[in-house]
Amino acid sequence: MSEESHIATTKSAMSKAYVPYSNYPVGVLIITDKGNTYSGCNVENASYPLGNCAEASAIASMVMGGEKKIKTIYVMTKNDEGGIPCGGCRQRIREFSDENTKIMLCSPSGVQSHMNLAELLPHSFGPEHL
Ligand code: THU
Repeated sequence: MSEESHIATTKSAMSKAYVPYSNYPVGVLIITDKGNTYSGCNVENASYPLGNCAEASAIASMVMGGEKKIKTIYVMTKNDEGGIPCGGCRQRIREFSDENTKIMLCSPSGVQSHMNLAELLPHSFGPEHL
């Protein structure tokens, strides 16, 4: 699949976001090492702390699909500078990533910037520390 179609799929995920409280929709697309794709959106709740981030939804879907390696992850919001994962989601991404994982920060018009895991979450804690 082309980058253009990845952007279209991420945008479609963002359009599904349930965000009546923040009005800040986020869409995520994960491409795994096997080339399969999983998407997610944020889902809020009247009890605010119960809301789920889009990254968490997409990662849960990937794990349900029997996969554990993120090759590329697209994160989109409506902002011109693109989506940026929150601290908790950086750690979630870290669990299923390696030094080759690409994190693509996207606006609806496309990829605005990209980074690797060390740039997203420097000096990170992971399974090998346990
Ligand atoms: N949000 C995400 O879905 N992912 C992030 O990495 C940043 C924050 C959501 C949570 C909430 O629904 C809304 O964005 C505003 O914080």
